[in-house]
Amino acid sequence: MLLPIEAYGSSALRKVGEEVPEDYPQLQELIDNMLETMYNAPGVGLAAPQLNLALRLFVIDSTQFYDEEDEEETEEKGLKEVFINPEIIEKYGEDTFYEEGCLSIPGIREQIVRPSQIHIQYYDRDFNFHDEQFEGLDARVIQHEYDHINGVLFTDHLKPIKKRTLQKSLNEISQGKVKVQYKMRFPKQQKKRV
Ligand code: NI
Repeated sequence: MLLPIEAYGSSALRKVGEEVPEDYPQLQELIDNMLETMYNAPGVGLAAPQLNLALRLFVIDSTQFYDEEDEEETEEKGLKEVFINPEIIEKYGEDTFYEEGCLSIPGIREQIVRPSQIHIQYYDRDFNFHDEQFEGLDARVIQHEYDHINGVLFTDHLKPIKKRTLQKSLNEISQGKVKVQYKMRFPKQQKKRV
């Protein structure tokens, strides 16, 4: 089932997610719906707060991205994983720039600086514990989604002067004045009068 994605300006995007208990009702169904919604958009990642659920849960699939972008054989193949109750233990490596976007902020892409490597602990959808290190685009996408479960958006990383230049566009997104191919919920959309 496709779920509506919260747009910029929604208070749901600012909530810090709570830990997901192992007996969370219909967790597998929720994860399937998150994946379906992400693929439909399409996006490479989706976090529970984007679906108005204040939970420490996100899904990532960047494998298609690698197939499209990398015609040559590279070591990185992309990442497909469900992250439950993740904790980034350490961020390290070089600061790298990459143009990020977000399904909650359609039409806006900006260069964001983040560390190139992370050490993270998390549970997968079967509640198996993982202790892993990621780098490159995988580390990038994980940090973006991890921000979401802490109520942080990629635009929060922009310098104030840059963010001011985007403010009009961001306001328009929150009002629903944006074209998107997927279902969204806009916090400040005016109800149409009949
Ligand atoms: Ni996002």
